[in-house]
Amino acid sequence: MISEKLQQAFNEQINKELFSEYLYLAMKNFFEELNLPGFVNWFDVQMQEERAHAMGLYSYLLQRGGKVTFEAIDKPVVTGTCPLSVFEQTLAHEEFVTSRINALTDTADEDRDRAAVSFLDWYIKEQVEEEDNVRKIIATLKLIGDDKKALLMLDKDLATRTFVAPVIG
Ligand code: FEO
Repeated sequence: MISEKLQQAFNEQINKELFSEYLYLAMKNFFEELNLPGFVNWFDVQMQEERAHAMGLYSYLLQRGGKVTFEAIDKPVVTGTCPLSVFEQTLAHEEFVTSRINALTDTADEDRDRAAVSFLDWYIKEQVEEEDNVRKIIATLKLIGDDKKALLMLDKDLATRTFVAPVIG
């Protein structure tokens, strides 16, 4: 049975992942307004990934006999004002999520809950991938600068991203 403290930490992370989904919905909407369908698609896939991350934690907590509790989800605020700054905000958010996953794993470790530590390993690896994907797009956007043609080419590229339901754990 999972400890009360670890259960609370799992519930907090479920909330963070659902907030991530909500934030990426707001970013998707930002790109709808810019009329960049490839960027819209990228954030749509990103949203679906966040929902899958939340549901992975949800299912695991239930599987361990824990109790899922829901708190309010914060209002998503897009602070970025252009494609580059929105992706910089995305990276900062993913780095924050990484720090929360690490803290959750530390709590599981303090509990000597080997099963939870092993389960969370998937999330640690996923965060490396998430941050890397976003960093690469930031690097491309920096190269693009004010070149509208190049931005439309990146938009075409981002339109090819598809959601593949992850096998978590
Ligand atoms: Fe669920 Fe993008 O981390």
